Amino acid sequence: MKIRESDRLQQMSEYYFSHKLREVRDLIRQGKRIINLGIGNPDLPPPPVVIQTLQQSADGVDNHGYQPYQGIPELREAMAEWYFQTYHVALNGRNEILPLMGSKEGIVHISLAFLNKGDEVLVPDPGYLTYRSAAQLAGAKIVPYPLREEKGWLPDLEELTSLVTQQTRLIWINYPHMPTGSVATLEIFSSLVEFAAKHHLLLCHDNPYSLILNPSTPISIFNVPQAYDCCLELNSLSKTFNMAGWRVGMVVGQTTFLKSILKVKSNMDSGMFLPIQHAAIQALKVSRDWFLQQNQEYETRRTLVHQFLDRLNCQYQPQTAGLFVWGKLPGGMDSRDMTDWLLSEYGIFVAPGDIFGEQGKGYIRVSLCAPKEQIAESVQRVENVKARMFDDKKLYKKQLT
Ligand SMILES: Cc1ncc(COP(=O)(O)O)c(C=O)c1O
Repeated sequence: MKIRESDRLQQMSEYYFSHKLREVRDLIRQGKRIINLGIGNPDLPPPPVVIQTLQQSADGVDNHGYQPYQGIPELREAMAEWYFQTYHVALNGRNEILPLMGSKEGIVHISLAFLNKGDEVLVPDPGYLTYRSAAQLAGAKIVPYPLREEKGWLPDLEELTSLVTQQTRLIWINYPHMPTGSVATLEIFSSLVEFAAKHHLLLCHDNPYSLILNPSTPISIFNVPQAYDCCLELNSLSKTFNMAGWRVGMVVGQTTFLKSILKVKSNMDSGMFLPIQHAAIQALKVSRDWFLQQNQEYETRRTLVHQFLDRLNCQYQPQTAGLFVWGKLPGGMDSRDMTDWLLSEYGIFVAPGDIFGEQGKGYIRVSLCAPKEQIAESVQRVENVKARMFDDKKLYKKQLT
């Protein structure tokens, strides 16, 4: 019997990391010592109080049932307070915050809530892959807008304007930007909000990296007063508090927008496990010292990643935000060839830049989510890489032919 896949899946493929990590696990099973610098999965623990709270709350016999679709009021209040402390944005915890089970899921909810078949969505290139796949799931058309190194990986408003059509409904932005680590300013946010308002677009800002190695004061799109009319912002506890596996995020914005998202979300999940909500409240209350310590650790790791990239003859910006360093490969080398070569020859997994879009060709993304000893070992492993790199025909086949 032949069972057909749905039409909406025809243009989609399995998430790159879903199949690549299977390959990495196979190599590990064969006894290879692989160092994974490919993904942004924090290896550091959450604050201790968070784990204690989860354990205590899980002991409560009454804490195991379904939970409210909008999260418990105490969680929404804690998120509102955190937004105020972090960005000086005052939100009403009653109706301007919707807790989510991860911001990745939120991207899908927003896409299903606001996009129709044939609508167009502006997505950053390079950018997080889920903006594209969520739009495709909703039947919408992806319109990548290029971000370029020479413009600091920031959108060019003239170019953006030229991409707007009658069908354009939504634009995704994400600063600090993944994968490049570039940071936006309030002026840039203001001009993007103005652009969205002018063209009647919903502007969605994805903001999970603002507290990681950010050389500037963290900002929210809601620091722009006019943002309330046309913007949503996603945030996440995954990277900020090392809670990626817990699946806690939030979407904030005006009540009418959140009501539409809730129509999708309440039909898809049945609320977040109560002990996770109790623990998340404690995470949102941790002191600034906790971030300082965490950023010191990431800074040490980043210095080592810079050494790793130096050995590969890659160029990079030294002061980027977030969990990755974005390296430009020498001499127009191909991202996939390089990452496959590093994995097979040196047992080091990094992400090829082209998975994030056309503009990522010729780049690699190196994660800071590995103990410094492992990053130091990667630096050692590639000690004599340059000599081999320029000899290896697999890498330089394009130039040689
Ligand atoms: C830019 C960006 N947005 C969203 C996410 C998803 O995070 P979450 O764990 O909250 O789903 C990621 C995760 O890697 C990311 O890099």
